[in-house]
Amino acid sequence: MGERLAVVSGGGTGIGAAVARVLATDGFDVVVVGRRKDVLTDTAERISWDIGRPRAVRPVVADLTDPEQVSGVVEAVADRAVDAVVNNAGGYLGGDTGGLAGTAAHWRANLDANVLTAVLLTEALRPALRRPGGRVVLVSSIAAQRGGAGPYSAAKAALHGWAYDLAAQLGPDQITVNVVSPGYVADTEFFGDRMTPEGHAKRVAATLVGRAGTPDDIAEAVRYLAGPAAGYVTGQVLGVNGGSVLGR
Ligand SMILES: NC(=O)c1ccc[n+]([C@@H]2O[C@H](COP(=O)([O-])OP(=O)(O)OC[C@H]3O[C@@H](n4cnc5c(N)ncnc54)[C@H](OP(=O)(O)O)[C@@H]3O)[C@@H](O)[C@H]2O)c1
Repeated sequence: MGERLAVVSGGGTGIGAAVARVLATDGFDVVVVGRRKDVLTDTAERISWDIGRPRAVRPVVADLTDPEQVSGVVEAVADRAVDAVVNNAGGYLGGDTGGLAGTAAHWRANLDANVLTAVLLTEALRPALRRPGGRVVLVSSIAAQRGGAGPYSAAKAALHGWAYDLAAQLGPDQITVNVVSPGYVADTEFFGDRMTPEGHAKRVAATLVGRAGTPDDIAEAVRYLAGPAAGYVTGQVLGVNGGSVLGR
């Protein structure tokens, strides 16, 4: 058993799987949470095998928009202290079907997927956070800072305001709360079939470094914020975007 425990939402794919891998490599036991059991199990087994530590990464199936299913994550953690909660689950939910009802459904879906998932998981694990030394990391998006995706942009921006409050509430317990805001990251399930060669080229051209981000780029930022070196960093938004947005 590792000395530290991390819970990573959306840890079965993309950025979350990369985060699970770096944290497991650093000695954390990692619980990866998502809705698809097969995807989570594959990722958990692959990382555990690669780092040579059986069950270093464990899958827990839960739809984090559902309060009842979130309690399953608390049960899986049992009575261990949680050193890091990485709220990475989310994504852009398309499909405004028109009319006010369609608008409401579109906004609710994006707020549920990106805000409620993080709020419910963090609140459920809040009593179990290690005191002192716990870490909460929220994964937002460059869209929170520059718009471009309607309710998804707004939902990710909501995480920033909430992070500031949570950082104030948990600071006296020496628990830090920070946001990692990724720019364009290719090679995840995020864009599905929405990405085109033109869209890819446009996003790469918007960076200062002339390339798309990788899941590892984001995972390294999370690794720092989830680790012991970042104890004096709280209430911050760290952009990892190749310079697509500057200084905020
Ligand atoms: N890729 C980018 O360019 C980019 C840029 C900025 C921000 N981001 C953000 O980075 C995060 C990770 O995205 P990604 O690029 O790695 O895409 P991804 O591969 O689609 O990852 C999203 C993960 O969230 C999980 N998830 C979604 N809804 C969930 C729910 N209700 N309950 C539990 N798990 C849920 C998904 O698993 P299941 O479907 O199995 O539940 C999936 O593993 C997201 O929050 C995304 O908005 C991505």
